[in-house]
Amino acid sequence: MLNESLSKSLNDQLNFELYSAHVYLAIAAYCSGESLDGFANFFMVQAEEEKFHAMKIYKFLNDRGQRVTMAGMDTPNNEYSSILDAFEHAYEHEIEVTRRIYHLSDLALNDREHATMQFLKWFVDEQVEEEAMFDSIINKLKRIDKDSNAFFMMDAEFALRSFTPPAL
Ligand SMILES: [Fe+2]
Ligand SMILES: [Fe+2]
Repeated sequence: MLNESLSKSLNDQLNFELYSAHVYLAIAAYCSGESLDGFANFFMVQAEEEKFHAMKIYKFLNDRGQRVTMAGMDTPNNEYSSILDAFEHAYEHEIEVTRRIYHLSDLALNDREHATMQFLKWFVDEQVEEEAMFDSIINKLKRIDKDSNAFFMMDAEFALRSFTPPAL
């Protein structure tokens, strides 16, 4: 049985994962507006991943006999000065997600809630990948000119990104 405060914090994280999807859809819309369909696809796929993260927590809370509740959402940032600016925003967002996952892990550790600690380990590993991915794209974007062939090649490469949800 999860204690109430840990259960509420997991439910908050479920809602924050959905907010992350919202943040990435707003960035996708910015990219679409710039006619950069590959970058838009990259962020649409990212949004799908975030929804999958939310559903992982949804299932876990249900499995532990907890009642999930949905919350309202803040308006994400819809305007960016460049693709680099959008990726930097995404990277900052992932750093905030990591901070929240670590906080949740601390709560689970305090409660000696081993099943939740085990469950959160997947998210800890995922955040390492998320931060590394955005960091590496930002480094590349900083090196290329926004009207260069390399930039449009990146757009074409990101058009191929897809997401097949694994089992929850
Ligand atoms: Fe996530
Ligand atoms: Fe993420």
